[in-house]
Amino acid sequence: MRVPRFDAAGELVHDGPLIGAALTRVLASGRFIAGAEVDAFEREAAGFLGARHAVSVGSGTDALTIALQPAADRHPGGEVVTSPLTFAATASAIVRVGLRPRFADVDPDTLTLRPDLAAEATGPRTAAVLPVHLYGRAVDVTALRSAVGPGTPIVEDACQAFGARDAAGRACGTLGDAAAFSFFPSKPLGALGDGGLITTGDAELADEYRLIARHGCREQYRTERVGFNSRLDALQAAVLRVKLARVDQGRRRRAQIAALYAARLDSVPGLRLPADAPGHAWHAYTVRIAGGRRDTVLARLRARGIDAAVQYPVPLHRMAPFADPRPCPVAERACAELLCLPIWSGLGDDRIDYVAQELRDALRTAPVA
Ligand SMILES: Cc1ncc(COP(=O)(O)O)c(C=O)c1O
Repeated sequence: MRVPRFDAAGELVHDGPLIGAALTRVLASGRFIAGAEVDAFEREAAGFLGARHAVSVGSGTDALTIALQPAADRHPGGEVVTSPLTFAATASAIVRVGLRPRFADVDPDTLTLRPDLAAEATGPRTAAVLPVHLYGRAVDVTALRSAVGPGTPIVEDACQAFGARDAAGRACGTLGDAAAFSFFPSKPLGALGDGGLITTGDAELADEYRLIARHGCREQYRTERVGFNSRLDALQAAVLRVKLARVDQGRRRRAQIAALYAARLDSVPGLRLPADAPGHAWHAYTVRIAGGRRDTVLARLRARGIDAAVQYPVPLHRMAPFADPRPCPVAERACAELLCLPIWSGLGDDRIDYVAQELRDALRTAPVA
């Protein structure tokens, strides 16, 4: 049996005709940049999340970069406290606006930024704190806010967390001062290409983001500040409007898949399951395998047609562009142990059974390193 990590075409099965109609509508309009589809998507996404303002951009990386720019303007050369257990885009965005990442370790259960360690890492050089809702699990931003104090901007990396909610039921993207989302196809809300969104409750920030993403122009050909070009295409906006209607349904199915994995893998020796949380978006289902056996297990799963993945094998503070000798032992250990199992809303129960059975078998036979 083949179990891909994600099936972008399979995700479209239910929405195919609606997406076809949306694309045809945009083609007929001849308006491919900005316009009604993009405006409507921004409004509808903001409404869904409960965010006051939403600014669409070209990717999650752009969303992070733009969302950090006001903090960089206020603290040139300053630091952004963030997690080392994330995709490189989180730290690249920090560096691209002239700031430096300052890594604080993650919690061993949630694998997200620990508020107390984030607070320890903040100081006069801190320009912002950037928690990552890793795998679609909401960081406790309320705890983070009280740990770091009121004056420090909190920018959420919500790229993996569209539709995720915290313990109080508040949507990721409304928890900090601003948030960045990615619409990469495999994300909880995925486009048919690249796309991104910045949300904020602050009208002035939203205005600033829009200016940065539109070459600093409020009026055509009158640049007020240095910016660049970052836009969500009208075609992608139209697709995202269709898919937005099913975001919660997709999240519920992934939560069901997570529960099925948990039931089938409960008490398997040598396996640690991800901690559940009510509003988890389950962008990834990440187990942990200790004892140096993870790579053997991964190779065996791949040989059996299961596209499991290591997301991520190296923490960012151990990568040359972001190198920092300060240890983050929990993240380092997690990178050696974690394994992401296939999860997407169209994954059928038969394939979940197969993955669980193969994982149990692989663990039984893999020798401890
Ligand atoms: C945590 C995180 N941050 C940032 C990004 C960047 O998003 P994009 O690929 O849309 O630029 C991603 C997506 O891959 C991500 O997973």
